[in-house]
Parts: sequence; structure tokens; C-alpha cells
Amino acid sequence: MPTNNQVQDCGTLIVQVAQVTADVLILLFQVLYAFILSIVTLVVRKQPKSVRGEIVLITGAGHGIGKELAFLYASQGATVVIWDINEKNGTQTVKEIEQLGHPKAHFFLCDVSNRENVLTVAKDVQQKVGDVTILINNAGIMPTHPLLEHSKDEIQRIMDINVMAHFWTLEAFLPVMKKHNYGHIVSLSSTAGIFGIPNLVPYCCSKYAVRGLMEALYQECRADKKNEIKFTSIYPYMVDTGLCKKPIIKFQNLMPLVNPKEAAAEIMDAQRRDLNEITIPRYIFYAHNLCRMLPLKAQLFIFDFVGVGLESDLS
Ligand SMILES: NC(=O)c1ccc[n+]([C@@H]2O[C@H](COP(=O)([O-])OP(=O)(O)OC[C@H]3O[C@@H](n4cnc5c(N)ncnc54)[C@H](O)[C@@H]3O)[C@@H](O)[C@H]2O)c1
Repeated sequence: MPTNNQVQDCGTLIVQVAQVTADVLILLFQVLYAFILSIVTLVVRKQPKSVRGEIVLITGAGHGIGKELAFLYASQGATVVIWDINEKNGTQTVKEIEQLGHPKAHFFLCDVSNRENVLTVAKDVQQKVGDVTILINNAGIMPTHPLLEHSKDEIQRIMDINVMAHFWTLEAFLPVMKKHNYGHIVSLSSTAGIFGIPNLVPYCCSKYAVRGLMEALYQECRADKKNEIKFTSIYPYMVDTGLCKKPIIKFQNLMPLVNPKEAAAEIMDAQRRDLNEITIPRYIFYAHNLCRMLPLKAQLFIFDFVGVGLESDLS
């Protein structure tokens, strides 16, 4: 004959099992709902939101992808704030945007790796232009050679520009976005931020760091159920800006360098559709996720077969 205590314990256990079963069922429905929603949004694409009237700050917009982004945002009616360490290229970008008939472009000389410089120039931007509503952390460098041929200063510089700068710009602009509960952070990682590539050890490390930063920050802000600040991480394959000095591409026709204009269009589209992350081209996202499920040896066979990489820029 069970005692009263045993009957009570058994009752508690049944309640707990029922509770967990109900929670798991709810979770399964939520996962199914998310899955169906993502398929629907693949077919019925969300309308891109307007950027007219937004203040878009793009770091490293004196050249390459950043410059193309500046053109695109200006052409869509946004005020564009160009930051670059290269004054000549930065002012030239503004000049070219103005020549296209878009008067709302501003250049500020800024070394994004320098926290004091970032915070000072950010105040200047706030006073002269206004509150930044879209921040695009784009500036980056990519020295390409074997790890032991990187000097300590070079490794430090890669981390300062490619990673630490994101902390400084976030320190400068995220508080105002939080205050208004409005804004969008876009960060340039790389496909080198989702798989390791020879000759790019510090660079890959910096781009994996950007991925971690963005994912963790997104989760942190999401914890506030009322949060409306959006996050978009970008993982481009090699883009034809000159950053990749000696690309190796086995299948030239299948995997050519991406045109910088196309890369910028993809980035702006992802931002305007509030996409959380994209690879450029987009199929790399699915190919990569599928590959990661395979045994390491199989992944390595595929990596060697695809045959994409970079030769040392010292050779
Ligand atoms: N080009 C590619 O193949 C490729 C691929 C994947 C990811 N990315 C990433 O995209 C971003 C842009 O690349 P890109 O190819 O346009 O490069 P780019 O070299 O053409 O332009 C980078 C710009 O950043 C500026 N810059 C560098 N250091 C700076 C600093 N300390 N402060 C302010 N500005 C600074 C440069 O002056 C330059 O104008 C980078 O983060 C890069 O890592 C590029």
C-alpha cells in the first residue's frame, strides 16, 4: 500500500511530465510556424522599407563596397555620412554623389580603429548632421599571408580595424538608437567569417569575431521584447574591389568575383528587408550549412574541390 507521501510525489511527477510535454508541443508548433513562415517569405518577399530621410553612416566609404553603398543610399533619398581614413577618397565620394544630383552626403575623416577619434567624430556628426539611424560597419583590411609571416603590429591592426572599431561605433551610436528604440546596425563580416581560409588566419579570426558580436548583440537586444533595433550581418564571397589581391578561383565561370555594385545592392536589400544575415551570393549560406553537417573529411574534400582561396600577397 503506497504511503500518502508516495502518492503526493507521484502526483507531482505526473504534473511535471504533463507540463514538459505541453511545453515541448508548444515548441514544436513554434518551430513549425517559423519554418513555414520562412518558406512563405522566400516566395512572397517582404517589401523593402524606405530609407528616405534616414541618416546612414558608412565606415570605409571612400572606396569599394562602402562607396557603392553610399551611392545607393543617397540615390534612395537617405542622408549619407561617409567615414574614411583616406581623406582624398572620402571627399571624392561626396563629390561624385553630389554630381549625381544628391546633395545630402557628408564626409568626416575618421580612423575607426581609434576609440577617441570615433567618439569625437561621432559627436561632430550628431551636431552637424543629426542622429545616425543606420550604421554600416564596413571598413576593413585584409593582409594575406601565412600566420607566422604576419607581424604583431599587423595582427593588432587587423583586430583594431576589423573588430574593435565595431565596439567604438556601437558605443557612439547604439545609445541614441536605444533611446529612440529605432535604428539598424549592419556589419560586414565575410565568408571568411564562416569558414577558415589559408593565408587569412587573423582576418578570418576578425570576421568570425564580427559574426559573434552581431549574433550576441542581437540576442541581447531581443531580450527586450519591445526592441525595434534591427541587425544585419553580411558574409560576402570575394568582391572585385582590389582587397583580394591574388584570388585563386578554380571554376571562374561558376564562382567569379562579385561586382562591388551587386554586393552593395544585396547589402542594401538585406537591410531594407530586415534580414538578419545573408551571404553574397546567397546560395553559399545553404551550401555552407549543409556542408557543416558532413564529417570533417568530407568537408575537406569539398573545400579542395571548390578550390577557392587567396595566394600570399608577399609572394
Ligand atoms: N572585397 C572583398 O572581397 C570582401 C569580401 C568579404 C568581405 N569584405 C569586407 O567588406 C568590407 C569592405 O571591403 P572592400 O573590399 O570594399 O574594401 P576596400 O579596401 O575597397 O575599402 C575599404 C575602405 O576602408 C577604409 N579604411 C581602412 N581602414 C580604415 C580605418 N582605420 N578607418 C576608416 N576607414 C578605413 C579604406 O580607406 C577604404 O576606403 C571590409 O570589411 C571587408 O573585410 C570584402
